[in-house]
Amino acid sequence: MSDIPVITIDGPSGAGKGTIARQLATELSFHLLDSGAVYRAAALHALDRGADLDDEASVLVALQSMKATFKPHPEGVQVWLDDRNVTSDLRLETTGNAASRVAVMAGVRESVLDEQRSFRKAPGLIADGRDMGTVVFPDATLKVFLSASQQVRAERRSKQLKEKGINVTMGSLLQEIGARDERDSSREHSPLVAAHDALIIDSSDLSINEVVAQIRSALSAADTVG
Ligand code: DC
Repeated sequence: MSDIPVITIDGPSGAGKGTIARQLATELSFHLLDSGAVYRAAALHALDRGADLDDEASVLVALQSMKATFKPHPEGVQVWLDDRNVTSDLRLETTGNAASRVAVMAGVRESVLDEQRSFRKAPGLIADGRDMGTVVFPDATLKVFLSASQQVRAERRSKQLKEKGINVTMGSLLQEIGARDERDSSREHSPLVAAHDALIIDSSDLSINEVVAQIRSALSAADTVG
């Protein structure tokens, strides 16, 4: 346990956790943990080493040689595997799906626990992911569970991809989001679930600023940070 404040933001992919977490971290001058990036880096490293993503032992052997560096950046964390900048590879849909596959493995989750907790430094931390409030920081100062309908998340993702010049059909996006939700929520170890003491926010009809305002007012009500 630690006195350093932590705000956890958990929720399904595409709910806006990353954007909200970055904005809050900037406003409060807190550190930021993008735990999805930790799982994405693990999956990428395992793939690079030729591991079989359906075989936990094979993935764990690969992870023994992983040297990942996470550097804060205004547009999201920058990630190196050894001395290779893998930030853009990390954001690929294929890497997200591979991350979701290795994230079902208890040994993988255990192996990244200390790394994630090491981000808890003064003056405080904003941690986003799936199990930040339930498993990694159960003593968090404030726990937020951010959701949005699958339709809204698919529309947001489609817009982001269009901005990058990539066109995908809504049908395929909805299918991918549904499959990822199902795997993240139904897994045995640390499934995606709201902590019993989490503030639940449905961001389907809210702007980023409205979500941040709700979190800030919960913080003021708790009279803890900010
Ligand atoms: O948030 P993201 O899309 O970058 O996460 C990629 C995958 O990593 C996600 O589908 C499940 C896994 N993950 C996890 O199991 N636990 C976390 N705390 C964060 C991510």
